[in-house]
Amino acid sequence: MSSIAPSRQILVTSALPYANGSIHLGHMLEYIQTDIWVRFQKLRGHQAIYVCADDAHGSAIMLRAEKEGITSEQLIDNVKLEHSTDFADFLVDFDNFHSTHSEENRELSSMIYERLKDAGHISTRSVTQYFDPEKQMFLADRFIKGTCPKCSAEDQYGDNCEKCGATYEPTELKDPRSAISGATPVLKDSKHFFFRLQDFSDMLKQWTRSGTLQEAVANKIAEWLDSGLHEWDISRDAPYFGFEIPGEPGKYFYVWLDAPIGYMASFKNLCARRPELSFDAFWQADSTAELYHFIGKDIVNFHTLFWPAMLEGAGFRKPTAVAVHGYLTVNGQKMSKSRGTFIKARTYLDHLSPEYLRYYYAAKLGRGVEDLDLNLEDFVQKVNSDLVGKVVNIASRCAGFIHKGNAGVMVDTNPAPELTAAFLAGAPLIADAYEKRDFSRAMREIMGLADKANAWIADKAPWSLNKQEGKQDEVQAICSLGINLFRQLVIFLKPVLPHLAADAEAFLNVTPLHWTDHETLLTNHQLNAFKPLMARIEPAKIEAMIDASKEDLAAAADSAPAPAGNGELTKEPLEAEIKFDAFAAVDLRVALIEKAEFVEGADKLLRLSLDIGDAKRNVFSGIKSAYPDPSKLEGRHTLYVANLAPRKMKFGVSEGMVLAAGPGGEEIFLLSPDEGAKPGQRVK
Ligand code: 2FM
Ligand code: ZN
Repeated sequence: MSSIAPSRQILVTSALPYANGSIHLGHMLEYIQTDIWVRFQKLRGHQAIYVCADDAHGSAIMLRAEKEGITSEQLIDNVKLEHSTDFADFLVDFDNFHSTHSEENRELSSMIYERLKDAGHISTRSVTQYFDPEKQMFLADRFIKGTCPKCSAEDQYGDNCEKCGATYEPTELKDPRSAISGATPVLKDSKHFFFRLQDFSDMLKQWTRSGTLQEAVANKIAEWLDSGLHEWDISRDAPYFGFEIPGEPGKYFYVWLDAPIGYMASFKNLCARRPELSFDAFWQADSTAELYHFIGKDIVNFHTLFWPAMLEGAGFRKPTAVAVHGYLTVNGQKMSKSRGTFIKARTYLDHLSPEYLRYYYAAKLGRGVEDLDLNLEDFVQKVNSDLVGKVVNIASRCAGFIHKGNAGVMVDTNPAPELTAAFLAGAPLIADAYEKRDFSRAMREIMGLADKANAWIADKAPWSLNKQEGKQDEVQAICSLGINLFRQLVIFLKPVLPHLAADAEAFLNVTPLHWTDHETLLTNHQLNAFKPLMARIEPAKIEAMIDASKEDLAAAADSAPAPAGNGELTKEPLEAEIKFDAFAAVDLRVALIEKAEFVEGADKLLRLSLDIGDAKRNVFSGIKSAYPDPSKLEGRHTLYVANLAPRKMKFGVSEGMVLAAGPGGEEIFLLSPDEGAKPGQRVK
């Protein structure tokens, strides 16, 4: 008898990643969390649909493309390919990965705006803002820098001071300047469009307290609701990469207006390919389908205030729930580029299997909004002990005896019904934990069962029995049950470990397993050959990944400008200009490259031995892709930053940096002085 409810229709989203940077392990926490939940729902037989997209609009993307000398469209196309590949390789199985820069999104954004306007929820007024007279554009707060009005710290952003923590208006900054061009900004008026969020106060008070949010999130939102809602500025002036507001030339939707509509647009795009899906059935106001958004705690206001209000105002259904998670820390600290713990998805994948991280995150993810720590020692220990030592171990202990003693055929006796009963009783608890996103509880329950199975097999010791006369039937019965218990564990772990499950299905010689398959046992069943299902993590791989992350940083620092998606923090501002004093403090000298060679084990670096006049220096530089024959660099003069703090790397200490230009890859051009320049001469 199946124990699951009739099929549900469930639409699930993860936050849309910005199309201007690489995916890192912090992002992956959310996509893995969501993917596990969606895979669980599918395994249970529900119609679950998982959509996502790149968040492709905004001035940061426009400026980055400009800096790279490509169009915004080219930039977002490149990044979309990179993101999609990273997600696929982490086994994140989107039904659709679209872009907010799509026709579906343009139409839906315009429609929602028109409906809000017709219902009186849009207002307009003039706003005075800083304007960059050189770039001819209005400046968002993060593109303005100046001196803090409270503590006089220099070089602070337009809305808050990192030194004293003060928050202020950009107009309060002393000596403001544009972080884009360096020009002194001027104040300028412009008409802006606002969404009247306050019209939805009563609805939001009710909606946020109706089981849609975790308690901690609902409490936070209640503070905002109690202090009164204000209208929300949804327009930006040209130049802006986004959608023009219908009937308002030169005015664009703010990126955060069309970003969540991107969830709908991605689903709509999918409906065109999957005729069994109806857009209206999922989005109409009285839809019986469920809608879940998985997000990080930094974007709660957009998803629990603005978004449900927009949906309500435009006559669409609201989310069933918003699932909020905390941030990722690595080894107890914020991810850090210099410590090598700012790990890009691709760098991880170059060294380790995605399923290790999927399991570790699952083992640590609860229902709450607390931060999750990826402790790398614990990671190795937990994966090796749980997955390799407990789960896979059962199959590797039992398979050989069945192959050797019974031609790979499992027998039909059950020598421990109490054990199969315990597994059957555990299933609803595991399902309940998955359903509530309490994955750590689900993993504990599963590993508890794996412990029971291992203890029982150890107690029966088929390896000893096998040496005794007349015990063959017992050995086969024990090992057949062992394989059956392994199969149950694989079913329970399938949302987390889809590759392991596929390999196990091949060994078990069964069609893809569903949740209810745990209710049956394989009897008189032919197995296929057993191949090792998962290798232990070698700690050296972790070290190599950390070193490669430091190398990513070195390569990014040495080749300017950074190529698209080169591990920049998504919200990092563009570089600001510096004062002359700061420039003068850089000890820039002519250096002679005496030796240039490959670095064993480094993909991007060359080791340069430099003569800088009064001394010799050793520098690791991320220019290998442009100089496949490093010996050609020998005897050449270049420019060298002599007073950069030495950087300790796996391969040795890098003492300073040489200067190069170009977008990256083969196009990196080492800078050289005119002929006649001597090593050690300072740049003036
Ligand atoms: O914070 C971010 O990374 C945004 N790009 C998330 C957008 S989620 C949705 F609303 F589009
Ligand atoms: Zn300050």
